[in-house]
Amino acid sequence: MKIIRAKDYNDMSRKAANIISAQVIMKPDSVLGLATGATPVGTYKQLIDWYKKGDIDFSEVTTINLDEYRGLPKTHSQSYWYYMHENFFNHVNIPENKIHLPDGSNLNSEAACEEYEEIIRKAGGIDLQLLGIGTDGHIGFNEPGEAFELLTHCVDLTQSTIDSNQKFFGDEEMPRQAYTMGIKSIMQARKVLMIVNGESKADIIERALFGRVTPEVPASVLQMHPDFTIIGDEAAFSKI
Ligand code: F6R
Repeated sequence: MKIIRAKDYNDMSRKAANIISAQVIMKPDSVLGLATGATPVGTYKQLIDWYKKGDIDFSEVTTINLDEYRGLPKTHSQSYWYYMHENFFNHVNIPENKIHLPDGSNLNSEAACEEYEEIIRKAGGIDLQLLGIGTDGHIGFNEPGEAFELLTHCVDLTQSTIDSNQKFFGDEEMPRQAYTMGIKSIMQARKVLMIVNGESKADIIERALFGRVTPEVPASVLQMHPDFTIIGDEAAFSKI
């Protein structure tokens, strides 16, 4: 495990973008596992900036996102497909046919999840998986208690996830399920890069990195990953 301390959110984002861009320079046809949420927005911005300056080329890159709401069409403003296009894909040169997210519009969960694992296999596995972490230690949509040996699967969202995300859907009821890469799919990535910022993550970072490895803290499994790097700002690392 490599722990990289960043001064603040911008510094964390720049350092993460540096690692991703080094990956793409060293292996132009890299398979990048990507995440949504608030944390990676600055990393994507930095990568877009370097792409626009001509410093990085994504034309051979394949992307595989962690998760997607079940039952949302791609074009819905709260879908992760939409987020990824708004925050990253629309601004760089990754070919659309190399962009992958679980198909939230496919209500046949078994087929949707099997199809996604097949996409990962056909791509040759993930070279670098970018992750955020939830305050309860979740990674992807793998909530506390989720078995470590799961591949891509359908999850029922917890009440706390529903409570914190319903506001983004306004009056519309948000989905109650999601498709997510499982802990096993994440652990099979050759490198894992987690980014974390803010005081609200300080407690869980201490438990995830130095506590017992347990499904109750899904991110704790990363202690066992052979190539795991975490970049955090001072607030997130204030307890370690
Ligand atoms: C995103 C994802 C989630 C987030 C986590 C942290 O694709 O799978 O696990 O990484 O919820 O979210 P933020 O970055 O909003 O704190």
